[in-house]
Amino acid sequence: MLKTFDITYCDETSCFSLQTEHSTYIIGSADGYLGHVCFGRKVPDGSGLALLRKDEYSYMKGVPGDKCTFMDGFPFEYPTEGIGDFRPGSLAVRNARGFLGCELKLAGHRIFKGKKPLPGLPATFGTEEDTKSLEIDLKDETLGLCVTLSYSIFRGLDTVARSVTVRNDGSECLHLEKVLSACLELPWENREIVTLSGSWARERYIDRRPIGHGRVEIGSKRGISSHQEHPFLALAAEDASETAGEVIGLSLVYSGNFLAQVERTQHDMLRVGMGISDYNFSWTLQPGESFTAPEVVIVHSSEGFGAMSRTFHDTFRGHLIRSPYLHKKRPILINNWEATYFDFNIEKLLQIARTAKSAGIEMLVMDDGWFGHRNSDNCSLGDWTEVNEEKLPGGLKALADAVNEIGMDLGIWMEPEMVSPDSDLYRAHPDWVIKIPGREPSLCRTQLVLDLTRREVRDHIFNSISQVLKSANIRYLKWDMNRPLTDVGSMTTPGGEIMHRYMLGVYELQGRLTTEFPDLLLENCSSGGARFDPGMLYYCPQIWCSDDTDAMERLSIQEGTALIYPLSAIGAHVSICPNHVVGRTTDLYTRGVVALSGTFGYEMDITKMSDEELDLIRDQVKMYHRYNDLVREGDLYRIKGTSPLYKNQNNRMSVAWMCVAKDKSEALLSYVQIRGGANLRSEVLCLQGLDPEGTYASDDGKTFSGAELMNTGFVTDRLWGDGKAQIYHLTYRNQFEA
Ligand code: GLA
Repeated sequence: MLKTFDITYCDETSCFSLQTEHSTYIIGSADGYLGHVCFGRKVPDGSGLALLRKDEYSYMKGVPGDKCTFMDGFPFEYPTEGIGDFRPGSLAVRNARGFLGCELKLAGHRIFKGKKPLPGLPATFGTEEDTKSLEIDLKDETLGLCVTLSYSIFRGLDTVARSVTVRNDGSECLHLEKVLSACLELPWENREIVTLSGSWARERYIDRRPIGHGRVEIGSKRGISSHQEHPFLALAAEDASETAGEVIGLSLVYSGNFLAQVERTQHDMLRVGMGISDYNFSWTLQPGESFTAPEVVIVHSSEGFGAMSRTFHDTFRGHLIRSPYLHKKRPILINNWEATYFDFNIEKLLQIARTAKSAGIEMLVMDDGWFGHRNSDNCSLGDWTEVNEEKLPGGLKALADAVNEIGMDLGIWMEPEMVSPDSDLYRAHPDWVIKIPGREPSLCRTQLVLDLTRREVRDHIFNSISQVLKSANIRYLKWDMNRPLTDVGSMTTPGGEIMHRYMLGVYELQGRLTTEFPDLLLENCSSGGARFDPGMLYYCPQIWCSDDTDAMERLSIQEGTALIYPLSAIGAHVSICPNHVVGRTTDLYTRGVVALSGTFGYEMDITKMSDEELDLIRDQVKMYHRYNDLVREGDLYRIKGTSPLYKNQNNRMSVAWMCVAKDKSEALLSYVQIRGGANLRSEVLCLQGLDPEGTYASDDGKTFSGAELMNTGFVTDRLWGDGKAQIYHLTYRNQFEA
């Protein structure tokens, strides 16, 4: 029996073995240099050391004249720059005189139960029962540098979480120019790369492509994880499908500038690195100081992309998201943004609230435009404590009381990291913004970014939020962030440290907020989904996925997002048609089906809906209450999609996915026909994740064996037209009797 959930060290071979549920991660060593052996299908402890190919380097046989060949070929577990390894390094250090070079040798290790937190950073967590960790110390005696590589594994999951701490034990200052968090060295073997790319309103489209020689890089320089690229990549066997084939996924628990790079080397190996971007990064380590790089969550699957996704979902739900709302049904909210934009007042909001309440909606969220004199996006950010009394006489308290009177809760929007040049805050503190002294900073959405690297600025922001939240019964906060960082300078913080210190500032603020207001439902947002990442999920249970609320567009956006994130985290609303971003009209029913596979809510002027539409909304509300436990807590199976993840699918422009209860007692199949076609027949979908031995009944009373549903297939209804949807609910009846 091969071991699971175990970490060992073998003294004789200086080899570390991490055994997860179905996979094994092995680290070997050669003359004290640490080498990556494998992260793949399960093998016994200490397997595969021959992959280090020690015998093939004359340097290893005592020929010092050939060190360079060794340095440029050995599969370093944590490669460094400047000493003969010409592949992308993970660590670049300059000494006090500016010389680049670092050489790390094994100096010690610790294996222990549980997991230590990362100072100031979001990271996975675990108990002594469900988590084990390994720390390996590497040293460069010349620099006086100690690098600690940390690894954690979690019971039942094929997940390895890695991070790095670099400490200056020497007597001179050191300059860190690149500190990635994880590196893997894998045989190329026709593997392909999968990334999530996009744009505003088009976030996280799945991209899959072969890997040629040279380097593939994705990253962000924007100070946010970004709409454009995502801090995730997967390396997949070319024949990997949803249900079969090997896939390794890497996801960075960080919300700022990142870098993910893959180089196919001269020996057809893939060197994979991920961490904070080295762009505009330079960190001075004084003697005694240390720097901790964020965590990378690495998942292995030998059963295709589906299993990879479910492992990420379980890792994030079980070991990353801390919110008390994680396992709770969230209130169904209605947000007034697409209903009114800036043009609202208390009467309008209360009209929306009354109609929403009559349809079963539970919370009103007042979006942008309630403070200062903000009637468009060109002013007042920062003036949070000045409620616009023209729109809201009596302030937030009067609104909250009136909304509560109707029987609903109140939530609000804020953008705490920003300031408008036309604001009292900016007029009082023009030096509190990110800018290069002497240079006029670029405006974006007519706003500037506050310098969160400074404690007094963070304290001011926290006190403003706190004052607002305490002024009325506010149960939910949408924390937005609507522009990238440019002109990166500060009155107090060294240039190369600003980008990362800014992120540490955001994390500190969100940490303070969730500690001080533990019952607040926090939803993060960044011009839609520009900061939808594991870093933010550490502080909140849900993130607004995209400003594109069109149901057809959302199929791709939510499919890409759910490649790593659980449906319970994906902010999804039913909005008005024609859709404000793409102009498309889609059935209200279909819009509901798509939003049900997320947090579910509304974003429309509900007072303009017909009685018939309001009845349909009432039905959707019932659907949410009936199925949300399954969607929030269940396992996701993608049955059919349109993304490049799926090769050779007979794709008739339809999408199907399933949420299956962990105990397989219940399943919800969602099927959407994006485009109708002439003379098409119903579709046959081979379902997944059911108990093959069990009997399942659909709500209309038909029964099927689990094996039949998965192997022969389930026949859908024939849908007529574009953008049509149907859901099918299956409940377990008993063991199937042949
Ligand atoms: C961003 C958000 C929107 C909305 C506006 C308000 O664009 O993504 O949902 O809150 O800001 O200005």
